[in-house]
Amino acid sequence: MKLKTYTLFNPLFSFVIDNKLRGMIENMDEEMGFMGVKMGMNVLEAGCGSGFVTPVLSKAVGEKGFVISVDVQEKMIKKAQRKRGCLHNVDFRTESASNLSSVKDKEIDLAFLYYSFHEIDKKDEAVSELYRVLKQDGVLSIKEPKFEVFKRDMQAYKELIISHGFKIAKSYRDCDFLGCYLKFVKNQ
Ligand SMILES: C[S@@+](CC[C@H](N)C(=O)[O-])C[C@H]1O[C@@H](n2cnc3c(N)ncnc32)[C@H](O)[C@@H]1O
Repeated sequence: MKLKTYTLFNPLFSFVIDNKLRGMIENMDEEMGFMGVKMGMNVLEAGCGSGFVTPVLSKAVGEKGFVISVDVQEKMIKKAQRKRGCLHNVDFRTESASNLSSVKDKEIDLAFLYYSFHEIDKKDEAVSELYRVLKQDGVLSIKEPKFEVFKRDMQAYKELIISHGFKIAKSYRDCDFLGCYLKFVKNQ
């Protein structure tokens, strides 16, 4: 599989994306609310990296919920397992969002993509896969970095996702100082 150059640099930069200081800039508990994470949900975290967000997700879904955290890079999953492997309700898997072969049809309540959608190479296939694994009325929730280049892509992302049968969720936060949100519902 062909990965974007900056994706290949992620393992080197994980001291930035997986740093305690990040927790001071982003209020991760609040982010769970904006992204639509609720107690008891089965969540798919696609592009989990070294799992900086995963412990917050694990806590937010609680005892009755479950998190499947996937990343296309084995190096990142190994880091995540080493640092966060003790989370009882999380399964880390090396898998691409564009080929989620270990995830069953309609198994997921919320597909959660935090600063990862822009890195996915085969976005069309990924959106099809996310649609397949989501339950009826399941939610696809994306946050992307706010840099100009990504902001420009947001409209194209919206159109691509809608073309796969998703509907825009009624209410979602637009942008904060770091990133922009996109939220959709699978509603056939
Ligand atoms: C910027 S990092 C974000 C990691 C994490 N969500 C966070 O906020 O700390 C993006 C991650 O997406 C992963 N990624 C890129 N393409 C992917 C794909 N097709 N499927 C799953 N993960 C992918 C990269 O390997 C990288 O770890």
